[in-house]
Amino acid sequence: MGVSTATGGDGLPANDDQTTMLVRKIPDGSVIDHIAAGKALSVLRLLGNPQENGFTIAMVMNVTSSKMKRKDIVKVEGMEVSQEQVQKLALIAPRASVNIVRSYRVVAKRNAVPPRTLRGILSCTAPTCVSVREKDSAPSIFFLSGRSPLRYRCKYCGRELTEKEISSQLG
Ligand code: CTP
Ligand code: ZN
Repeated sequence: MGVSTATGGDGLPANDDQTTMLVRKIPDGSVIDHIAAGKALSVLRLLGNPQENGFTIAMVMNVTSSKMKRKDIVKVEGMEVSQEQVQKLALIAPRASVNIVRSYRVVAKRNAVPPRTLRGILSCTAPTCVSVREKDSAPSIFFLSGRSPLRYRCKYCGRELTEKEISSQLG
């Protein structure tokens, strides 16, 4: 065949250019790109399922990418993802980039960087931890202890949460 960039064997687009053809550009809102394949639905959940609140969503799942093997993309029309949501996104999609779109232009690109400290977002898995036994007087606090794979350590008892445990608590 005379086409060098064909679809993959599974019929999915073989590069980023073709990926953009699957879903149109949005006039205003947010594009969360470079989500690890399979995490798009967790990302939507983390954003509070905007599709249940009147927003239009477009999703691309499991496409090949030049930067990572396979990725998902989530577009939310008319909603700008907040800084706090970007921080949480870093916990389930550490390589994601959040593009804020206004009048068809990307006006801001925020990289999801895992925060050093997390308050009240994760729960300790040690049953004897004071943050578990006395939830009200000792709210959960975790410190970043590893980036790749992602790890957070409980301030009170030192228990470390693995990337998997972190994802499952959030998604
Ligand atoms: N995008 C969109 N609607 C727009 C503008 C951009 O859906 N009106 C999407 C693009 O399709 C792309 C993402 O937002 O998936 C980021 O856009 P852009 O920064 O233009 O693309 P890249 O340069 O490829 O981004 P990166 O460098 O992060 O890979
Ligand atoms: Zn603890």
